[in-house]
Amino acid sequence: MATKELGIILHGATGRICSTQHLHNALAPICTEGGLPVGDDMIVPRLLLVGRNDRRLAEIATANQVANWTTDLDAALADPDYPVFFEAAATHQRLATLGKAITAGKHIYTEKPVAPTVAEGLDLLADVETAGLKHGAVEDKLYLPVFQKLSGLIESGFFGRIVGFRLEFGWWVFDGKGVESQRPSWNYKSTGGGGLLSDMHPHWRYVIENMLGPIRQVAATAWTAQPERIDEAGAAYAVDVEDSTTTLIELENGAFGTILSSWATRVRRDDLVTFHVDGTEGSAVAGLRRCWAQSAADTPMVRGFDLGAEANTGKDGTDYLDDWREVPETVAYKNPYRVGWEGFIRHIVADAPFVSDLRAGIRDVQLAEACSQSAEERAWVPLPQH
Ligand SMILES: NC(=O)c1ccc[n+]([C@@H]2O[C@H](COP(=O)([O-])OP(=O)(O)OC[C@H]3O[C@@H](n4cnc5c(N)ncnc54)[C@H](O)[C@@H]3O)[C@@H](O)[C@H]2O)c1
Repeated sequence: MATKELGIILHGATGRICSTQHLHNALAPICTEGGLPVGDDMIVPRLLLVGRNDRRLAEIATANQVANWTTDLDAALADPDYPVFFEAAATHQRLATLGKAITAGKHIYTEKPVAPTVAEGLDLLADVETAGLKHGAVEDKLYLPVFQKLSGLIESGFFGRIVGFRLEFGWWVFDGKGVESQRPSWNYKSTGGGGLLSDMHPHWRYVIENMLGPIRQVAATAWTAQPERIDEAGAAYAVDVEDSTTTLIELENGAFGTILSSWATRVRRDDLVTFHVDGTEGSAVAGLRRCWAQSAADTPMVRGFDLGAEANTGKDGTDYLDDWREVPETVAYKNPYRVGWEGFIRHIVADAPFVSDLRAGIRDVQLAEACSQSAEERAWVPLPQH
């Protein structure tokens, strides 16, 4: 088996998502394992970390046994030893940076959202296709093992006809006044590319459409629950993006569902995200760690409210969780970002099909954009395929 290097520039290497998930949990392990087998070859990523802070770059490079890092993006882009450019820095600079990478002749792989608007995304797609370069978008939630269990149930016909779904996501993000905020301030500023719709709805688009089929139209609301926050320097700032959203979705197949996403809710559900699907023959709920299913045969005969004498005790003798069975493990856990990288590397070196291309990433942006429009106009907005 021949060993071949594939040069990959990681932009935004000091950021949380790049340094932890993409580097530490995905690319660094591929390197230390001696590479990724692709056909008769072992493909070893040769990494170049790009960021703005020398000290942080050096620390991250050392921790992950990466030899090369730089703060000079233009020099990195000019280096022919690195044909692949990965973009994971703060959202607001993404479009311009990807444009430069395409001009420099790099294949691009990018974090979400891939572009601020669908129109700008389509321009980028035209540029990358005209240049004959390959492209991909990070769609990691597709590969969450528990969501794969849910997909398995759908493929097996467990649900019968799917009639509805409910996707719930979020937790309390402190505003920084009494307790330090656990998310960066750019997440709450339009100039930083912040906002919950553009942050999370790109994920929900590919999760919903890959599992349940195409979305026909959406009706959404979006609001700001915490209008003032404290930034990393301790200064107060006004939040000018939404931190809470509710979306009603109609699928092409006639089923309806909802997405409840919020940075201003306290968790009382199975997990930080839960995806509940109802069908005529069964229902299932997937969290991040576990998946529970209830078949038609296990469905209790609920006749309605009957609080009776025990109403004040909160106990009526029924535990509705009893009728759910845990869906067993089928595959060993693999980090979802690593699954994405392995697919993209195979796409680059062996032309393997890669479902999460830039077009898919633009469709992810389209859901967020349609929801913003719907919230503004207080109207249903269609989601035509581009
Ligand atoms: N796939 C996912 O689940 C997922 C999860 C979190 C974040 N993300 C995406 O990843 C990106 C980074 O998010 P994060 O949570 O790592 O943020 P972060 O704030 O931790 O990191 C942002 C990085 O961008 C750099 N940066 C900031 N402004 C810059 C500029 N003007 N030019 C160049 N670099 C700049 C910072 O130095 C830092 O390295 C965002 O686009 C976000 O939407 C995706």
